[in-house]
Amino acid sequence: MRKQIAAANWKMNLSVSEAETLLDQILATEHHLAANQEAIFAVPSIYISLAIQKLAGKNNVYVAAQNCYSKSNGAFTGEISAPMYASVGVKHIVLGHSERREYFGESDAFLAEKTDAVLAIGSTPIFCCGEPLSIREAGSQNSFVETQLKNSLFHLSEEQITKVVIAYEPIWAIGTGKTATSEQAQEIHAYIRSVMASKYGQSIADQISILYGGSVKAANAKEIFSQPDVDGGLVGGASLIATEFAAIINALK
Ligand code: PGA
Repeated sequence: MRKQIAAANWKMNLSVSEAETLLDQILATEHHLAANQEAIFAVPSIYISLAIQKLAGKNNVYVAAQNCYSKSNGAFTGEISAPMYASVGVKHIVLGHSERREYFGESDAFLAEKTDAVLAIGSTPIFCCGEPLSIREAGSQNSFVETQLKNSLFHLSEEQITKVVIAYEPIWAIGTGKTATSEQAQEIHAYIRSVMASKYGQSIADQISILYGGSVKAANAKEIFSQPDVDGGLVGGASLIATEFAAIINALK
């Protein structure tokens, strides 16, 4: 069975004391992770070591980075590499979030390099894709997302692609309170899986977890996650509220 994942994306939020309080609050909530389920906290990099300490010993709970650089080391002031993250215990790195694509100009080709860097050290890329509103309104979301996947992932081997988690996040649903309906999510998730199957075969495509992101909250998580090709969520705003995120974890299949 595919992994079912609730991934928190804190983005650029919280002071250190607020981060500590939120982790304490989450630990105090009632949440349950079955053997095939994971909770992942993509926290600002400056809080990663704190989060790893706080969550130590919790089964199926991981701390992720929100981004990394494509090179391992060198004169790249201000950047943090995938091996550096691995050295502090990070096993998952979010790549290609639409905010990185939009505000920091990250291209498909650059994200292909970053994906290689993350896989090279045995970590898991959580690779984000998704269309803006204009593309959705034109009905071209499938080909838009297909191009993102082809350009950044199709050079990977069969063995590598099974280590990638895909997060589909329609940009028009991020932080807007607008969620894709569960039918819209299922439709494009099934399409993404068919794109992966066309390249790697159905049995490999069936192993890839595909998360939905965009205004997931406690009130809609269960319905969205119940769709056959939705394997959990990448959650921004609602992941900053302990009870909300605990309910989202508990909504995993
Ligand atoms: P949101 O963000 O849940 O606040 O819409 C999701 C994301 O950007 O990962």
